[in-house]
Parts: sequence; structure tokens; C-alpha cells
Amino acid sequence: MNIDWHGLIGIARVARGRAYVPYSSFAVGAALLTGSGKVYPGCNVENASYSACICAERTALVSAIAAGERDLVALVVVAGGPRPVPPCGVCRQMLSEFAPELPLTLANLEGATLETTMTELLPGAFAAKDMG
Ligand code: THU
Repeated sequence: MNIDWHGLIGIARVARGRAYVPYSSFAVGAALLTGSGKVYPGCNVENASYSACICAERTALVSAIAAGERDLVALVVVAGGPRPVPPCGVCRQMLSEFAPELPLTLANLEGATLETTMTELLPGAFAAKDMG
């Protein structure tokens, strides 16, 4: 499938605008392209009970899974900050469950981008096969 990375960055930027971040003020947006061609947006949603916060990447992921989509094609993450934001460890593990080789573009608001893959971000990931 042809991946419109520029379009995905635009969708992630819009999703970032919907982030609920009263505690960190660090808004993150994501856009997850699936095999059907649909794009699932995500944003971080924080909570007064800090451990209940969810990242933009996982919001997009669980939206896609809940819609019945498991064929993940590409993910874009957009945030402010000096460098393209690297997904946290929990998000890496959850993305790896469904798409261990997923290609990603990470971007900041100044237009800096980093192209990477889940293989690069989480080498040696724990997976179902490790349970025998
Ligand atoms: N956050 C994300 O949404 N994605 C990332 O890749 C890094 C961190 C969120 C979690 C929290 O709401 C805020 O950014 C600060 O950690």
C-alpha cells in the first residue's frame, strides 16, 4: 500500500490538538494507517490519577483494534519538543504485539522527522512465542 506520510502527519497534528494534558501540558498526536486504508487518530489523555494516563500511540492502537482492524501499516507520532518524540516503552511493547515490523515516522512541530521501525525501537521484544 502506498503510504501518504505527509497526510498522516497532518492527521496526527490535528489529533494532537485534541490531547487532554492538564498535568504535563505535553500534547502528543498519532495517526495509525491500517490495511483497510482507514486512519485511526490518537492523542494522549491524562488523568488526576497519573498512572491512568494513556499515550497518543496507544489511543490510536486500541481504537483500531476496537474497530476490528489488526493489520497495521504505518504510524505517525507528532509532538512538540526539540526532537521527534520517541514512543515510550509501554507503547513499544503494545505496538509490537500487533506489528513487530511497523514503520513509523516521528515528527516535531518544527518539521524535524525521524523514520524508524518497531524492529529498531524494540529489538528482542518479548512476544507470545516466548511463552512456548
Ligand atoms: N506521551 C505520549 O503520548 N506519547 C509519547 O510518545 C511520549 C509521552 C505522553 C504521556 C503523557 O501524557 C505526556 O506525554 C508526558 O509524558
